[in-house]
Amino acid sequence: MARNIVILTGAGISAESGLGTFRDEDGLWANHALEDVATPEGFARDPDLVHRFYNTRRIQAAAARPNAAHEALARLETWHLGHVLIITQNVDDLHERAGSHHVLHMHGSLRQALCAACDHRWTAPPEMHASDTCPACGAAATRPDVVWFGEIPHWGARIDEALAGADIFASIGTSGEVYPAAAYAQHCRRLGAHTVELNLEPSRGARDFAEHHYGPASEVVPAWVDRVLGA
Ligand code: OAD
Repeated sequence: MARNIVILTGAGISAESGLGTFRDEDGLWANHALEDVATPEGFARDPDLVHRFYNTRRIQAAAARPNAAHEALARLETWHLGHVLIITQNVDDLHERAGSHHVLHMHGSLRQALCAACDHRWTAPPEMHASDTCPACGAAATRPDVVWFGEIPHWGARIDEALAGADIFASIGTSGEVYPAAAYAQHCRRLGAHTVELNLEPSRGARDFAEHHYGPASEVVPAWVDRVLGA
């Protein structure tokens, strides 16, 4: 039977593409104060600082290349007879550039700009500035379309529906420290899905998974995809 596969990804899947994770040693939150660059209050205090932070990340993401783990998930979407959905906490576009089509960016995307005044969204230029104006309403309230702490993640209803229909739920490269994503495995397991963790090390919620594969994503993800496809 073709089974529905729902995959949650986090910063660990992009680590081998050269993009920093958040909580590893020397990660983004070791070098930047989260409350300064990833909260609405931080943006209100110093929008230039926040734009500089995301401009740097946008430029790094554009220069990065998908790795074998992103490519394996695109292969899974192509060849698996059931549906494959990626829910990513990442704001880079490496899943899309690897060829995945069904991707929900629950924490937003560096590729998009958002007007805080009228909610209009448009393609972000490589560098954004606090003085940029919205092409729809003209307000100088331009921000990156990324979800900050204290804000509601995107795609809530679509994600709930996907989790309810998952036969397999796999979590890749995430520490399980941030909700609501951290609760998805337990939720799916209670609903009867087979749960799989692929990460460098056991995450905080490791006990919510029936199957575990620990190692670099570029190795464990292609091997898991091969097994799912029966290759
Ligand atoms: P974290 O930095 O919290 O966790 C990254 C996970 O990836 C850790 O468990 C690492 O062990 C693992 N990892 C590192 N390198 C890896 C590799 N090569 N292969 C496999 N796994 C590897 O990142 P996230 O869990 O994505 O939110 O963080 C979740 C959210 O917290 C982010 O979306 C962001 C952050 O604050 C917002 O900014 C709203």
